[in-house]
Amino acid sequence: MTTPSATQDKPAIDVAQLTAPAGAVEAYMDKVLTDRPLPANLREAAKYALLGGGKRLRPVLIVRSCEAVGGTLEDALPPACAMEMIHCFSLVHDDLPAMDDDDLRRGRPTLHRHTNEAMAILAGDLLTGLAFEVLATRIADPVLANRCVTELALATNDMIAGQVYDTLPDFPPEVRPIEKLRTIHRNKTGALIRASCRLGAILAGCDEKQLAQLTRYGEAVGLMFQVVDDLLDVTQTTEHLGKKAGKDSDAGKLTYPGLIGIDASKREVERLRNESLDALTSLGQAAQPLRDLCEYLAVRTK
Ligand code: IPE
Ligand code: IPE
Ligand code: MG
Ligand code: MG
Ligand code: MG
Repeated sequence: MTTPSATQDKPAIDVAQLTAPAGAVEAYMDKVLTDRPLPANLREAAKYALLGGGKRLRPVLIVRSCEAVGGTLEDALPPACAMEMIHCFSLVHDDLPAMDDDDLRRGRPTLHRHTNEAMAILAGDLLTGLAFEVLATRIADPVLANRCVTELALATNDMIAGQVYDTLPDFPPEVRPIEKLRTIHRNKTGALIRASCRLGAILAGCDEKQLAQLTRYGEAVGLMFQVVDDLLDVTQTTEHLGKKAGKDSDAGKLTYPGLIGIDASKREVERLRNESLDALTSLGQAAQPLRDLCEYLAVRTK
């Protein structure tokens, strides 16, 4: 697969090559769930949630951020697995009737449709606990393991706060709608993406300057990712997305296209794309996959 935007001076991005580390992460996640003693029905539910497709953006960001500052795929596997577990837990709970009430995810029935609500809640809970178990038991250096646990815990709790801002908002009356929107998106989606970039860099033993650069990149890409998600909800079909389209306005959600319109949302994507690329300026050729990922995420259609 290549992006459609190839021009003479800008070659097409080979997305399959760019996201190739996802295969190793999936094998690692499968093994974690296979080896862990669990009730059979809980294992089946967790595998359904974790291994049923998805772009694997966050694991790929971890691997590519790690490589950008001198680390390896092997260094990145435990946090990549842990992060995708948290992401999948968030999707399972996001889809529950009490939240977004969705029947379709990654082109298949949502977990509570495939099993039942109690199992979907519990499988989400399991993935949360397992994510931290993976970090605590599979990173050999205890100082590094502790740093990763802290990063992921902070980001998970920011994501949960974001889901509350999105679903049960309780903003003071003086907060302007655009500020509410940024707060929702930076937390519900941005926090895990920002932490993915930081975790990759930390595992590679980066210095403070590199960590600041990758944090800035992660913040811009993370917000851009949710602006694009909002746009896809109004511009794509359910069949293409593999999740229900047009649901945000039906549910009265605060979104970028809903608040500022489609054209201004696209300009915001462009601004955040430039901000992401700018953050990587001094990181050189090793950060090229991160630049390509940013370009792809700005034009993705699902
Ligand atoms: C969906 O995330 C939820 C959002 C934060 C918008 P992704 O679009 O990364 O979902 P998958 O993992 O590819 O299914
Ligand atoms: C999801 O936001 C954010 C999290 C799951 C934390 P959305 O509700 O917009 O995601 P989709 O559109 O259902 O994937
Ligand atoms: Mg939601
Ligand atoms: Mg949703
Ligand atoms: Mg959405």
